[in-house]
Amino acid sequence: MNIYQLLQQKFQQAIVAIGAPKDSPVPVSRSTRPEFGEYQFNGAMALSKQLQQKPRDIAEKIVEAVQLDGIASKLEIAGPGFINVHLDDNWLASQLQHAADSSRLGIETEKQQTVVVDYSSPNLAKEMHVGHLRTTIIGDAVVKTLEFMGHKVIRQNHMGDWGTQFGMLLAHLSDKLESDQVAETALSDLEVFYREAKVRFDEEQGFADRARDYVVKLQGGDANCMALWQQFIDVSITHSEEVYQKLNVSLTRDDIMGESAYNDDLANVVHELKEQGIAVEDQGAQVVFLEELADKEGNPAVYIVQKTGGGYLYATTDLAAMRYRSTKLNADRTLILTDARQALHFKQTEIVGRKAGFIGAGQTYEHCPFGMMLGSDGKPFKTRSGGTVKLVELLDEAVERSTVLLAKRESDLSDAQRAEIARKVGIGAVKYADLSKNRTTDYMFNWDTMLSFEGNTAPYLQYAYTRVQSIFRKAQIDGSQIAEPIALQEAQEHQLAVKLLQLSEAIKQLTADATPHVLCSYLYDVASLFMSFYEACPILKEGIDESVKNSRLTLAALTGRTLKTGLDLLGIETMEQM
Ligand code: ARG
Repeated sequence: MNIYQLLQQKFQQAIVAIGAPKDSPVPVSRSTRPEFGEYQFNGAMALSKQLQQKPRDIAEKIVEAVQLDGIASKLEIAGPGFINVHLDDNWLASQLQHAADSSRLGIETEKQQTVVVDYSSPNLAKEMHVGHLRTTIIGDAVVKTLEFMGHKVIRQNHMGDWGTQFGMLLAHLSDKLESDQVAETALSDLEVFYREAKVRFDEEQGFADRARDYVVKLQGGDANCMALWQQFIDVSITHSEEVYQKLNVSLTRDDIMGESAYNDDLANVVHELKEQGIAVEDQGAQVVFLEELADKEGNPAVYIVQKTGGGYLYATTDLAAMRYRSTKLNADRTLILTDARQALHFKQTEIVGRKAGFIGAGQTYEHCPFGMMLGSDGKPFKTRSGGTVKLVELLDEAVERSTVLLAKRESDLSDAQRAEIARKVGIGAVKYADLSKNRTTDYMFNWDTMLSFEGNTAPYLQYAYTRVQSIFRKAQIDGSQIAEPIALQEAQEHQLAVKLLQLSEAIKQLTADATPHVLCSYLYDVASLFMSFYEACPILKEGIDESVKNSRLTLAALTGRTLKTGLDLLGIETMEQM
């Protein structure tokens, strides 16, 4: 149980004891300023109406009833009836000791759920571009954290490997192979390949017809056409894997469940929607009219599941995917990470899917939208010439830039070590810049801020971690071997201690809301509090009392482990020195 949960439990018991109904809310929150203690209970005001007593009287009764002996050093009533909780240093020390003795820093796993996470999901017709950076990085952090908390996580890379644009691509590829090129060479640059195919489609006589012919063949499962398609897909997946590897994300081929995988189920989906009277024919197409999402004039939203002429859509595939995940994968939760522009699509899909019973009432369908990555001009991030930025190139640039920056620092490390550090810092900076922003808002991509050693950045946190490690190197001690108890004396020690014990709160918020930025801010606080602690509380200074030194060393060791655990979950690599 973390501090927050413990206080919730204690205050719940207290308010029930003074006559509040069992299901009353228990509003515990973190205090905003150290002089208000660490936590606050804000429930007295609401209870005063219910119990018809003055809020301050209620607050006094709660303070009387709440059993926080040995946990809180002081409870005080402030303002109209807030109860401020000041945590006791001895109790904090014992909690820290427990964390220090545990391989998981004392963090308990959650009740296991099966969680499907649909992320990355690039379109294979093209190269991965910056638009896929956020879903890939945020998704991977969410997945790792859910696993850490004991959940069964099923990654689903819903790759866009199907659809009409493949007709034109396959027609073009077939010509290239005809002229003796191998697929790898022909598709070495998917961007160029796509453009060539598009030009031919728009301009070359007869090509568009051939392209359409390929679509029909592909949908009909024609063997030659499928073989060609498979070659295209394989090369394109290899391109994505190159990006995954550079980004150090955990997706593998086994996680791919592309749009094509649902192809055979699409007719069933539409058939069932029709049977149930949910989809109806409209101008030759099969559509669902959504009264729930009617416009101001009362016209229902139109959700098409089959086009005139029989073609299926992105939406049809998502309905099939929803059903597969809830019935075959038994997902308790499904999380889908895409940019915010798809929010309406997923809202509609959920309504239709629930009506059709494709997902159970107890199963969630959570679209986790994110904002766009903007250039420093505030417009969508583009190359100088206005093209889309290829992810591979962006990541290479990150490493080049961090190499230049790190070269300016004094160091006695070997060239190989320095190159490795530059890679971790460069990639870490790009990932962290993305993770640390509230995912729902747009954010500005800026090399200088993300690579800075100050502020809420990867280099700052990586550096803080090396600072901790250097203490132990200097002292030639293994931090986990210290047997002496922790004793908190200085204000900086107290603040750092409380923060270290809040890791599980940050993690829980991340897994509930798919918001890695919460963990980023937390780690940034840990690093900053550690720096203040380190300045105010000497550790290795001559003449320092042995027990004080050991207590501080344990605090430092816990700080290091907390930073490392958090950064690992976020997918940010650390190093021992830099
Ligand atoms: N391929 C889509 C895109 O690049 C994202 C797919 C997201 N997942 C889904 N189930 N629709 O925009």
